[in-house]
Amino acid sequence: MLAQIRLAELIGALSHALDLTGGQIAGHCIRTAHIGTAIGRRLGLSEAQMHDLFYTLMLKDLGCSANAMRMCEIFDTDDTRFKGDFRRVDGTLPSLLRQVFRHAGARRSVAGRAKAILKALRARKHAAQLVDIRCRRGAEIARQMRFSEDVAAGIRHLDEHHDGTGRPEGLKGEEIHIFARIALVAQVVDVHSAHGGPKQALRQLRARRGNWLDPEVVDACLAVLAQPGAWNDLKAPDLDQKVLAAEPGQTIILADEDYLDDIVEGFARVIDAKSPYTAGHSDRVAEITVMIAKELGLSPAECRMLRRAALLHDIGKLGVSARVLNKPSGLDPEEWVEMRAHAAHSELILARIPAFAELAEVGGAHHERLDGRGYPRGLAGDEISLATRIVATADVFDALTAERPYRAPIPPAQALAMIRETAGAHHDPLCVDALERAWQRESAPAAA
Ligand SMILES: [Fe+2]
Ligand SMILES: [Fe+2]
Repeated sequence: MLAQIRLAELIGALSHALDLTGGQIAGHCIRTAHIGTAIGRRLGLSEAQMHDLFYTLMLKDLGCSANAMRMCEIFDTDDTRFKGDFRRVDGTLPSLLRQVFRHAGARRSVAGRAKAILKALRARKHAAQLVDIRCRRGAEIARQMRFSEDVAAGIRHLDEHHDGTGRPEGLKGEEIHIFARIALVAQVVDVHSAHGGPKQALRQLRARRGNWLDPEVVDACLAVLAQPGAWNDLKAPDLDQKVLAAEPGQTIILADEDYLDDIVEGFARVIDAKSPYTAGHSDRVAEITVMIAKELGLSPAECRMLRRAALLHDIGKLGVSARVLNKPSGLDPEEWVEMRAHAAHSELILARIPAFAELAEVGGAHHERLDGRGYPRGLAGDEISLATRIVATADVFDALTAERPYRAPIPPAQALAMIRETAGAHHDPLCVDALERAWQRESAPAAA
């Protein structure tokens, strides 16, 4: 039985995965929550509003992975790096052109780059589509995680601008949810101060006051930032704990087992949205994992833990560019380094939640092999837990039977035979046996 987990602790830890996919400096969502909640208090929001604002700020980038693939196609570049830099565009043409010239076709020849830049410059109409995908998906996932319509609206309106020049709906002034107006101001402060220091952030706030940004919210933010120690607080190593300890609301919310499942399933959707080739992967690995675990006689509580571990095993893939995830041919050495890093990222993110220690272990070790030839640590034999071996077998079975950029899906019987060949070297023979038995039973025609 898992211990009960504070909702804020869970969301705060998982928000680090959203920083990865948004190409932001680690801790961006937490710092945005710190600044945004101070603005909300200054504006006199009620305690119930403050509670919803707090979660809007931490989850504002929930839809960020959903447009990653489309962004790679339009700009012919790495979505994570592009997104990180694009948030620093200040609305002026030179700043927009700077980012397009820097990123479009960055890995191509001179001629290829020129073509990519021209394509990107003609892509204005796609910008609204990219924002729409992100905001809509983010709001949907927030609802799935049982957050209120206000939280969903705050996420959906994040890219709307006070003067009506934003997207996707071109809303103006108070038509934009107050949570989104606060989140945008807090985001501008963090993105610019993290890269250029307080002066750059203040310059941006003043330049955008009344056009992109609500002037009343900017004024509240300037008052917050004028407090002694305000800028130093943003760099405090224990900011995560401070932000979570100051969670607004009358009571601390604990996630019970069912709610925990909803949050984990929501984040699995964020992971799988990154690429058409990973769509549904986390869900299917979870289903196959539970089949193997039940076949091995594990208890319902262990099966539930394993299902969560499987749903989140690839959370570190949010830090891998969709360009790499979708590459139709072999990866070059640099791209392999990026791809392989996802296991370590999964472990780091999940280890932020003490009650998820087992999930962190699975996330970090699901590409290890019994013969020690896996990654990232080259663990061997008993150094790899049974939970990890189960998820690893389910992971490979789904990878083989799913379509890949470079090949068609492999039929299940052939995939099982391929896994069987590596039993004892890559996979645990017990897990392979269990998978074969369970798969044969599940796929056998029902008795007449
Ligand atoms: Fe993986
Ligand atoms: Fe996987």
